[in-house]
Amino acid sequence: MTARVFLNGQWLPAQEARVSVMDRGFLFGDGVYEVIPVYSRRPFRLEQHLARLQQSLDGIQLANPHRTDEWIGFVTQMALEAEWEDQSIYIQVTRGPMAVRNHAFPPEVIPTVLILAEPMLTPPASQREQGIAVVSAADIRWLRCDLKTTSLLANCLLRQLAVTAGCVETVLFRDGFLTEGSASSIFVIRDGVLLAPIKNHLMLPGITYDIILELAAQHGLPHEVRDITEAETRGADELWMCSSTKEVLPVVMLDGRAVGKVGAGATPGPVFARMYAWYQEFKATVMRA
Ligand code: PDD
Repeated sequence: MTARVFLNGQWLPAQEARVSVMDRGFLFGDGVYEVIPVYSRRPFRLEQHLARLQQSLDGIQLANPHRTDEWIGFVTQMALEAEWEDQSIYIQVTRGPMAVRNHAFPPEVIPTVLILAEPMLTPPASQREQGIAVVSAADIRWLRCDLKTTSLLANCLLRQLAVTAGCVETVLFRDGFLTEGSASSIFVIRDGVLLAPIKNHLMLPGITYDIILELAAQHGLPHEVRDITEAETRGADELWMCSSTKEVLPVVMLDGRAVGKVGAGATPGPVFARMYAWYQEFKATVMRA
């Protein structure tokens, strides 16, 4: 972990940073967060991450403790200070401490604000070249998955199913439809068309999801944003998972069965190869700007 963290307006050595045991983030998971990728010390899509932070705060009725320019200042400073060139910056805002344990909001809310940096752990090249295996599970989460809250128990249990099975991610279905992964967005390719689930209360509006759709539009890849059935997902020609830290990865096995046309083998598909190249090109352009 990073040497210095930002906690409630102070820059402190991580081991000196303290949060009350009465913090609602600790006792209730009453808080929101963001994970911002940093390449060569430059935060990537910071504006969009901060806009989503605002949406999450609005969604839990917690006033934003900082203006956008202040957030930009803190994150930029963290990106310059941390010891790694490529990082993942974590922001958390909770509803702060309460005098007595009570589910209802305290009369006076003093939010807890934490920012820390970790080294960016990009997926090994083998995952990109050979693809990853995933399992599936029923989406047991609540009905506000559009908010990036720190109440992540269901996501943790779901991700652990993948780990126990020796896989990378758990793909979630709710009522017969694809939602997303336990900590990623999922795309389906069928007959050369990129299918994306509709952004609604059942999935996180992914920043990487938006980039993938922007790149599809820019490069003329046919794409549709619509409900995707479980059967369509299982019968996909290609499946991808994406997130700020994993970028985009090809899924080649779902519940022990190869993804794609029978006989094609469990290998990443041609549309993935194009999207991966577009993504890297886009990143390089943004970072040069
Ligand atoms: N998770 N869906 C869920 C449930 C997620 O937790 C994430 C990201 C995504 C992808 O969103 P984005 O492209 O904005 O990173 C989708 C982060 C990385 C995390 O919790 O660590």
